[in-house]
Amino acid sequence: MVSVLLISGMYGCGAKDKAPVKEKSQAEIVQAIIASMTLEQKVQLLIGTGMFMDLPDSLKQKFAAFADTIHLDDESYNQMVDKIRMYLPGAAGFSSEFSQLGITSQVLADGPAGLRISPKRKNSDQTYYCTAFPIATALASTWDTELIHNVGKAMGNEVLEYGADVLLAPGMNIQRDPLCGRNFEYYSEDPLITGKMAAAMVNGVQSNGVGTSIKHFAANNQETNRLSVNVKVSERALREIYLRGFEIAVTEAQPWTVMSSYNKINGLYTSENHDLLTKILRTDWGFKGYVMTDWGGGSNVVAQMKAGNDMIMPGTHKQILELISAVNEGKIDESVLDQNLTRILTIMLQTPKYKGYKNSNAPDLQAHATVARQVAAEGMILLENKENTLPIAADVKQLAVFGTTSYEFISGGTGSGDVNEAYTISLMDGLKNGGFAIDEELAKVYTDYIAQARAKMGAPKNWLAALLGGKEPVAEMKITAQLADKMADKSNIALITIGRNSGEALDRMAVEGDFYLNATEMALIKQVTKSFHAKGKKVIVVLNIGGVIETLTWKDLPDAVLCAWQPGQEAGNSVVDVLTGKVNPSGKLAVTFLAKYTDAPTAKNFPGTAVETETVDNAADLSGFSFMSRVPWEVNYEEDIFVGYRHYNTNNVAVAYEFGYGLSYTTFEYSNVKLNTNTFDKEITVTVDVKNTGTVAGREVVQVYLSSPMEKMAKPAMVLVDFGKTKLLKAGESQTLTFVIEAIDLCSFDTERSAWVADAGSYTLKVGSSSRKLNAEAAFSLASEQVVKTVSKLTFESSN
Ligand code: BGC
Repeated sequence: MVSVLLISGMYGCGAKDKAPVKEKSQAEIVQAIIASMTLEQKVQLLIGTGMFMDLPDSLKQKFAAFADTIHLDDESYNQMVDKIRMYLPGAAGFSSEFSQLGITSQVLADGPAGLRISPKRKNSDQTYYCTAFPIATALASTWDTELIHNVGKAMGNEVLEYGADVLLAPGMNIQRDPLCGRNFEYYSEDPLITGKMAAAMVNGVQSNGVGTSIKHFAANNQETNRLSVNVKVSERALREIYLRGFEIAVTEAQPWTVMSSYNKINGLYTSENHDLLTKILRTDWGFKGYVMTDWGGGSNVVAQMKAGNDMIMPGTHKQILELISAVNEGKIDESVLDQNLTRILTIMLQTPKYKGYKNSNAPDLQAHATVARQVAAEGMILLENKENTLPIAADVKQLAVFGTTSYEFISGGTGSGDVNEAYTISLMDGLKNGGFAIDEELAKVYTDYIAQARAKMGAPKNWLAALLGGKEPVAEMKITAQLADKMADKSNIALITIGRNSGEALDRMAVEGDFYLNATEMALIKQVTKSFHAKGKKVIVVLNIGGVIETLTWKDLPDAVLCAWQPGQEAGNSVVDVLTGKVNPSGKLAVTFLAKYTDAPTAKNFPGTAVETETVDNAADLSGFSFMSRVPWEVNYEEDIFVGYRHYNTNNVAVAYEFGYGLSYTTFEYSNVKLNTNTFDKEITVTVDVKNTGTVAGREVVQVYLSSPMEKMAKPAMVLVDFGKTKLLKAGESQTLTFVIEAIDLCSFDTERSAWVADAGSYTLKVGSSSRKLNAEAAFSLASEQVVKTVSKLTFESSN
């Protein structure tokens, strides 16, 4: 046994009091700790301490598997588990603590829109609310990596001050299909935006000295049968679409941890996939942290360890026993466990808990609310604005507010990505805060209806939302023509909010009331626009949604449409900042608003089909932590790399609003697009002048797309290769933006050669304000083919 007194650099476990005998490197400290551990302790650290949820009695029995922490025939282990789970009530997972060995617990807590912990604790009046920031889709719509870095800084500060070590975020799966129930937790249909946003977020969070877990690695693009679905995907699509964002995040931000996903890829659970977790992640990308499973993911703990999935979360009794036996029976060498432990302990040395940080439990929630309000407004997208309906003129004060969601605004989606915030500002509250007079008669009709409807409503149909306290919007209220006419008499403007919510464990559906508006919503928009237009008054629709909905059939009825997404706890205030022009909207879509669901390139392969012949060993599958059924299921990514705008723009599919779209209260002119050379060698620089040609200050998102020559491989008509955002340009002001396009940006992935290859030929850079509004272009050529990067050859074989 190595004495802990030899371990320098560690506080909090007694070592601080005595002078270290000799300075040790981090690697030496880690190896000394590992050498001091018994096999049991090693396994108890590799496998989490179970899931602890302090459930109400009514739910305890149903969700017994969730409510249980592991207890072993080892009293000191049991005492340790009971102790550490109290470190942060509501955190999703805790790794073991062995104080006598200098090992501190790592507290892991969700999630992408803010820290998720219990806001209240037994026997305490103190509250532990966290800031609900806008959902990831809204963050990406800012196209502003600096701002996202600031959000990460604020979010990470709450992680630190509430005593967590690792934030289980950002979520960065590709929004492959508009109906994935967790799209709100993800950034975009495009891997570049996804990667850049995630890198900014990781850097921001980790600047606090706490960690992140980029998730869910990889190709976790649906919730239907998420624990068993087998994703059939080509290596090219995997590399170019589903892994590219993760690669950017790893190389630009070194997240402390990566969370493997629930699904299989080409027959193998991602958590048991050595190609993915070792060859790609570590050899090709240089990842230095540790990998944890998603909660209950995979089925074979030995294969997981061998694949490089270092930590099993949340961990079960059975897994601990299995892994100990596997070592004793020679099925896995203890040195594999030591390698997994090395990664876990190397990160542990950086954690606040290890460093003995005394968290305050009092982050500056007010300052963070200000950040949330700002970023929410920056992420809103002005979809329609006929005759400059918006901003609302300063002398207009009398508003009629329709739509149940106006009164119960949705800050974020459900499931583990749901934050327990102190409040959500509804649109009605936001308008009042902004000095507007709301029609109280109408407000009362709505609030009475909502109270009655809520009282009659059962639990949400999504079981996980029900378990975690998520809410479904109440059914929209029918309004009469008389009521709408009366309001049109009394008020200057009508506002209608359309709301949607979804979350983990359930995908959305291409039906009325979900992807499509239902009859009541459609009638509401038609009646209100009819009544108000008859009086020469305007109607504004606000979309309070977490994912794409159909807009084409109704978007021309109102005078303005604002996509506010689910904008976090300051929701109503942020919407009003945009409606009044305090903030000039500059958000752009990072996901296409398609015309109808069946236009999606994935529509015929979502959410997949049952596997006829049972290829899944169900007994093995259930050895992990899970009471969710594992239906043998597969989904074929037949669209290959043609996801989102890569399909719509290549195949000229009409859409409601294209990728990159968004209006402003001002106008911009692009000029002077210049390349530093016309022949590509290692990189090429493109500059463009952007001028605010309107009358109010504003910011413009400038998008750079590349059309490449096609030699052997099919390619999209164009691909986003860079983007930038101007500063706030005053009317008449210009700014020159510079973009550097590197060799890798010219490449497609050649599976046969396991290489990123740029074809020789003529390339065109297109600079624009959306993927279909390209204001200028410039061509350059590449004299001969370049093999820019060669990577590991994949086999997709089990590591077991
Ligand atoms: C989710 C993860 C989450 C974890 C812990 C899982 O069900 O898929 O995103 O981090 O639970 O709450």
